[in-house]
Amino acid sequence: MTDIVIEYLDCRPGGVWVDCTAGEGGHAKQILKRIGPEGLLIAIDRDAGVLEKAKDKLKGQEENVRIFNSNFTGLGEILKELRISKVDGILFDLGLSTFQLEDRSRGFSFKDDGPLDMRMSEEISKSAAYYVNNLDERRLNEAIFRYGEERWAKSIAGAIVRERGKGTIETAGALAEIIRRAIPRSKWPGRIHPATRTFQALRILVNEELEAIEETLPAAIGLLKDKGRICVISFHSLEDRIVKNVFRDFSGRKEEAMFKVLTRKPVVASDEEKRQNPRSRSAKLRAGEVING
Ligand SMILES: C[S@@+](CC[C@H](N)C(=O)[O-])C[C@H]1O[C@@H](n2cnc3c(N)ncnc32)[C@H](O)[C@@H]1O
Repeated sequence: MTDIVIEYLDCRPGGVWVDCTAGEGGHAKQILKRIGPEGLLIAIDRDAGVLEKAKDKLKGQEENVRIFNSNFTGLGEILKELRISKVDGILFDLGLSTFQLEDRSRGFSFKDDGPLDMRMSEEISKSAAYYVNNLDERRLNEAIFRYGEERWAKSIAGAIVRERGKGTIETAGALAEIIRRAIPRSKWPGRIHPATRTFQALRILVNEELEAIEETLPAAIGLLKDKGRICVISFHSLEDRIVKNVFRDFSGRKEEAMFKVLTRKPVVASDEEKRQNPRSRSAKLRAGEVING
């Protein structure tokens, strides 16, 4: 899907592009290739560890890159600091990088038995363990239902509260086991682990992920030049719904700067890519363009 994203971003030599979720630098490298020695790439990620990977990948091209360890909610401030008022394109590739998922000390994966952390940034004070061990049952239920779209939220919240009465729940593995037992076996989801939705909910809660997207997408569209492009890759329906709604809202406005949605339906990975990279199965790309910005 990277090639399609880069096409939609319409990267040309000499322009300014922003990668709001630089991750390990895969897309960033492709953008740099196309904008050439005259172009500028602003690479942002809230995870300092993963940014080190991006720095490695972009070595030798430092002149054309500015790297910021920040939440992308700081996009406007970052551009101000660089004295840039408008840019040619902005990319959001939401969610987690492989590096974060595979680092068992972060507790993002129910497959590993790492500490129940899930913080994408050291600036976040409360880890997943805090919420799992302190939120009251009603709020746990609400969070799992809302952010995980998990219909067994009530049983899971109940099981968590019962288990934590016996001792603090400290690891991803311990939580995954509690969730597995809270859902009747005959109701386990077919393709995914029974803990997938609850882990998604906790991650969204810990990192305030939806708030960041809701706040930053409209601001990002306002930072695009005439013919500037925005691309968003999302990995679950809650994110995709926000992108769809923001794009629809902007394209319906009759203002001087118009917004055109370039993807009538979200673009999904090819069957071949889905086979090679199972995470791409849930990826959805939406792209848009500002006209007369
Ligand atoms: C799917 S990965 C990006 C992978 C990247 N496009 C690449 O090609 O390597 C998502 C990245 O977004 C970062 N991220 C998620 N939410 C963020 C936010 N609100 N602000 C900044 N970075 C964020 C994560 O830390 C993670 O590294």
